[in-house]
Amino acid sequence: MTTEKTPDTLRSSRWFAPDDLRSFGHRSRMMQLGYAEEDFRGKPVIGILNTWSELNSCHGHFPERVQDVKRGVLAAGGFPVEMPALSVDESFTKPTSMLYRNMLAMETEEMIRSHPLDGVVLMGGCDKTTPGLVMGAVTAGVPMIFLPAGPMLRGHYKGRILGSGSDGWKYWDERRAGNVSDEEWLGIQGGIARSVGTCMTMGTASTMTAIADAMGLTLPGASSIPAADSGHKRMGSACGRRIVEMVWEDLTPEKIITAAAVRNAAIVAMATGCSTNAVVHLIAMARRAGVALTLDDLDTLGRVTPLIANVRPSGKDYLMEDFYYAGGLLALMKQIEERLDTSVTGVTGKPLSEALATAEVYNDDVIRALSNPVYHQGSLALLRGNLCPDGAVIKPAACDPKFHVHEGPALVFDSYPEMKAAIDDEDLDVTSDTVLVLRNAGPKGGPGMPEWGMLPIPKALIRRGYRDMLRISDARMSGTSYGACVLHVAPESFVGGPLALLKTGDIVRMDLPNRSLNMLVDEAELARRRAAWSPPEQRFQRGWGYMFSQHVTQADKGCDFDYLERGFGKAAGEPDI
Ligand code: FES
Ligand code: MG
Repeated sequence: MTTEKTPDTLRSSRWFAPDDLRSFGHRSRMMQLGYAEEDFRGKPVIGILNTWSELNSCHGHFPERVQDVKRGVLAAGGFPVEMPALSVDESFTKPTSMLYRNMLAMETEEMIRSHPLDGVVLMGGCDKTTPGLVMGAVTAGVPMIFLPAGPMLRGHYKGRILGSGSDGWKYWDERRAGNVSDEEWLGIQGGIARSVGTCMTMGTASTMTAIADAMGLTLPGASSIPAADSGHKRMGSACGRRIVEMVWEDLTPEKIITAAAVRNAAIVAMATGCSTNAVVHLIAMARRAGVALTLDDLDTLGRVTPLIANVRPSGKDYLMEDFYYAGGLLALMKQIEERLDTSVTGVTGKPLSEALATAEVYNDDVIRALSNPVYHQGSLALLRGNLCPDGAVIKPAACDPKFHVHEGPALVFDSYPEMKAAIDDEDLDVTSDTVLVLRNAGPKGGPGMPEWGMLPIPKALIRRGYRDMLRISDARMSGTSYGACVLHVAPESFVGGPLALLKTGDIVRMDLPNRSLNMLVDEAELARRRAAWSPPEQRFQRGWGYMFSQHVTQADKGCDFDYLERGFGKAAGEPDI
């Protein structure tokens, strides 16, 4: 271990070392908490930022896991302090958890900056908690290690394996078609989430923890360990031990999140069949670290990276538990080793090549060889055209190939309630060629870009046996969703993006191989419509929602707040008193 820091140069020593009245107060209050001076003075003080709450079903094991982390910190000679951070659960937060990702990022940054912390362990995993914690900690700049919550066990009902989200949507469509009884529905409800941990499909949670892992922010391979596995406890204490060393080494996040590390993470995301949400979060995280990742970079990597994780929803057969038994993320990275920069060093301080040296695939149906991919290209593709000049995102592997080139008339809804009211109308004027469109659901319009993008198939079509159709919105969709859904249309309609000009009956054309999405409406007509357009009323007129709507950036920029982005204003620096 190279030692950069000494007890005297620890950040926390600014609080605890000086012989002055203010530091007397800090030390006195530590004694009020029951600690002797030798417990904390001259030791790395490790903040354990815990996103637990009783309404975060994915983080139910965190009260126990934090004890494992503390055990590790103490064993390595550090001083652990648990601090609660906004839980941002995906299961209950309305209107959308995305409204609060930046709140967690701000809280994380400010909590670190304002307290005597030398390093932090970030405990997260449920979708937005990973990017929220990482974005804030990167800006705060102290050494950090991310502890992923780990996926839950496979779902089960009557001998059938159930996957988070995906099977909920699937059986709901069957129930709407009258094919699922009340009793079966209750059984599915109880069987689909049967342990602590995050969604066990390759949804947003598993995508984002894999990205954090591939970027070097977790102990190597940590993201694949199921929450309920005893290995997860051991990983917790290992995080505690390692963060203390990282403080002495002064291994700050900026040394880890380099352009090469971000590229590795993007390639791994593509190979895993990542959630479309990865685009927004990965761009936001990278930009915080000063890496200007763009949609075009992601599209370029998507075109050449085969999808090799056979994990639902992009894969057909398996779930995260199977992925772990098959060797987990390190085994997947081993398969694509030549495409990665294995000289990068993550939280271990050692090159990635060392972690991959012993990685192995134990089941090549789950983690495929490059010669036998689940899909020949990566998970995501970027579209551009007169409907989305700043881009839109689609998940080609998750939609019926017959929609890859598609032309049809638009059926446009201005709000989710309007769409919901119409969608179950048996007489709705739709065919399988219709292109369903929802707008005013973007970063400012939602606000918060809710996961409404997998627009429901109209009942009139379900009854006729259809299960997919082309859908377009400026919303996001859940990482566990599937279908021919074009998402993240930018600029969004709420700020006057061209999606605002589309009318029901206009012909829309998507050409996925050529990455284009257009409305076949001439420019003169669009100019007339643009002149007649006026912005809708702001949903939130006060409070956080108001502040969010004022400052959130568009999807192609990562939906950070403009004033939180790197380079905005003078850096806050350390507290100066
Ligand atoms: Fe928490 Fe899916 S609801 S990860
Ligand atoms: Mg989700």
